[in-house]
Amino acid sequence: MSNYHIKHLEEYYQVYRKSVREPEHFWEEIAEEHFLWYKKWDNVLTWDFSKPEVKWFEGAKLNITVNCIDRHLTTSANKTAILFEPNNPNEAAEHITYRQLHKRVCQFANVLKDKGIKKGDRVCIYLPMIPELAIATLACARIGAIHSVVFAGFSSTALATRINDSDCKMVITSDGSYRGAKTIDLKGIVDEALNECPCVESVLVVKRIHSEINMKEGRDEWIAPLLEEAYEDCVPEVMDAEDPLFILYTSGSTGMPKGMVHSTAGYMVYTAYTFKNVFQYKEGDVYWCTADIGWITGHSYIVYGPLANGATTVMFEGVPSYPDFGRFWDIVEKHKINQFYTAPTAIRALAKEGLELVEKYDLSSLKVLGSVGEPINEEAWHWYNDNIGKKQSPIVDTWWQTETGGIMITPIPFATPTKPTYATLPFPGIQPALMDEEGKELKENQVSGRLCIKFPWPSMARTIWGNHQRYKDTYFSAFENKYFTGDGALRDEVGYYRITGRVDDVIIVSGHNLGTAPIEDAVNEHPAVAESAIVGFPHDIKGNALYGYVILKDVGEGRVHDNLRKEINQIITEHVGPIAKLDKIQFTKGLPKTRSGKIMRRILRKIASNDTSNLGDTSTLLNPEVVQDIMDNVL
Ligand code: WTA
Repeated sequence: MSNYHIKHLEEYYQVYRKSVREPEHFWEEIAEEHFLWYKKWDNVLTWDFSKPEVKWFEGAKLNITVNCIDRHLTTSANKTAILFEPNNPNEAAEHITYRQLHKRVCQFANVLKDKGIKKGDRVCIYLPMIPELAIATLACARIGAIHSVVFAGFSSTALATRINDSDCKMVITSDGSYRGAKTIDLKGIVDEALNECPCVESVLVVKRIHSEINMKEGRDEWIAPLLEEAYEDCVPEVMDAEDPLFILYTSGSTGMPKGMVHSTAGYMVYTAYTFKNVFQYKEGDVYWCTADIGWITGHSYIVYGPLANGATTVMFEGVPSYPDFGRFWDIVEKHKINQFYTAPTAIRALAKEGLELVEKYDLSSLKVLGSVGEPINEEAWHWYNDNIGKKQSPIVDTWWQTETGGIMITPIPFATPTKPTYATLPFPGIQPALMDEEGKELKENQVSGRLCIKFPWPSMARTIWGNHQRYKDTYFSAFENKYFTGDGALRDEVGYYRITGRVDDVIIVSGHNLGTAPIEDAVNEHPAVAESAIVGFPHDIKGNALYGYVILKDVGEGRVHDNLRKEINQIITEHVGPIAKLDKIQFTKGLPKTRSGKIMRRILRKIASNDTSNLGDTSTLLNPEVVQDIMDNVL
C-alpha cells in the first residue's frame, strides 16, 4: 500500500526516504492505487536531463477527465464539485454537482467537436472566473485538445502573442466580465487581438454581463444555444500518458513568454497527490483557492488536483475588496471553507484594512491556510496565523512554479512544524539542491545558493511549445544535469528551505511573474523614448513594484514628464496589461553599461531600492559617471 495520505512527521520522513530511494516504485504505487487507466504503463520513468527528455508512465492510456469526473459518479454524483461564488454577493452561489459537471463538460466537448476541434488542436480560453472557464478547460481535455488558458487581465497584444505562438484554432471567451464594481469588455479585447491572429477560425462566446457586443459573421457564435442542442455524453478520447494536456505561458527574463507544455499522466498523479497531502483534504471539506485559473495555481489547485480527489472546489469571480475588504472572510463564513489558499500580496492588502472586517465573521471552519506565489514576509505570516488561523490552522507556505506543475517545497500540515517565511521541506519525490555560482552543489546545512532540482518529478513541464532549445537553455544549462529554478534559497540548520527570490530578471509583482523585456519593449514604443530599463523595488503590498529608468530622445520639462509618465503606462497597459504598470519612472541621461553594452541592472536595482551602501566596483563600467547622476535624481 502506498502512503497516499501522510499524517505525521515521522511518516513524512519515511515516505520521503522511500521516494528518493525507489522513486519509480514510489510513484508507480500511487498511480496504480488511485487512478483509472485504460492501460497501464510499460515504463514508469525514462529521463535524460542533458537532452532534456523526461517521460513518466510511458505506454499508459487514460483520460484525465475520467479521473476528475466520471469515476466520482458512482460514489459522489450529487456532491458539489464546483461551488461558484459570483462577483456580486447578492447573486446566488451556484453548486455544480459531479453529475452536472459531467453533463456540462460532455456537452461543451461535443460543441468543440462539432466546430471541428480534434485531438492535439490548440484552443485558447480567455474567460473570467465563471464556471465555464473550468468547464471549457475540462472539455478540451475530454477530447484531447490542448488548452491554453490566458489570464483575462492580459491585454489584446499579450493575448494575440500567445494565440499565435501556439497556433490556436479557436478562442473561447465571454461578452465581458465583472471585476468588483467594474465591467470589462473581454470580447472587445479578443476582437482586437484577432486582427493579428490568422490561425483562429472560430470564437465561442459565453454570455455573462449581457452587453452589446460585436459578433463577426462566420467566426463568432454564442455558445448557449449550441450547448442546449448538444448531446449529454461524450466518449473520452484515449490519451497517451505523455500527450500534452495544456500549454500555459509564463514570463521569461528575455523575449517572448514561454509556453510551458504539461503532459497528461504525470501531471494528474502529482497534482492529485500533492492536493491531498498539502491541504489534508478530507471527505466533505470545502476547499477554496483564490487564484485565477489563468495561472498555474488555478490549473493545478482549483481544477485538476481537487477534482481528481473528488473534492468540492470553490471558484470566486470577484476581488478581495468588493463590496469591501471583508469579502474573503464573508465567503469563508458563508461556505464554511475548510482550506483557504491565497497569495501574500492579498494577505498584506487585507492586513492593512484593520481587524474589524475580519472579526465580523465566523472563521472557525478553517483548518489549513495556504500561501503561494512569492515569499511571504514575517509580518504577513503572523497576521495570517494570528487573525485568520487563530493560531490553530497551520500555514502551508508552498513553493513551486508554472514549470513544476505542482507544489514542490511545503510543510505537510499537522506533520511538519511550520516556521515563518520558510517553505520548509521538499514534498516526497522532490530532490532539491543548492548550488554555488561555480556550479558546485552545497551539501551542508546553513547555506544559501541557487535552487535546483536534481531528479525528475511527474508533473514537470516537458518542453516550451515550439522551442525545445529554449527549454534546455533556460532550465538545464546553468547547472549540469539539474533543473534550475531561477530562484535563490537558503537551507537552515534542520534542512528547512527558505526561498529568497528570483536571481534572474523576472520580477514578481503582486504574485504575478513579469519579465522585464516585454515591458521595456512596450516603453520603447513611445516615440519620445530612446531606451529604458526596468527593475523591481520592494513594495509594502505588492511585494515588488516596477521602477523604470527611461532615456528620452529629447530632454523635456517637468510638466511634460508627468504626461509622458501617463502615456508610458498607457502603452504598457495596451501591450502587456495593467499589472505591468510602472510605479515610478525616472527620466535619465544614461544607463550604466558594461563594456560589452549590457545594462547593469544590479546597480539600477540597488538605487531603486534605496540601498546604495554597496554598489560594488563601478569603475569598470563604460560610463561610470551616470551612476552618480541617477542616484542624485532617484524618486
Ligand atoms: C515564486 C506560482 C517564495 C518563485 C505557483 C517562483 C515563491 C515563482 C513561492 C513562480 C513561495 C512561488 N515562496 N517564492 N511559497 N511560490 N514563488 O510560475 O520565485 O507564477 O519561481 O508559479 O514564484 O511563479 P509562477
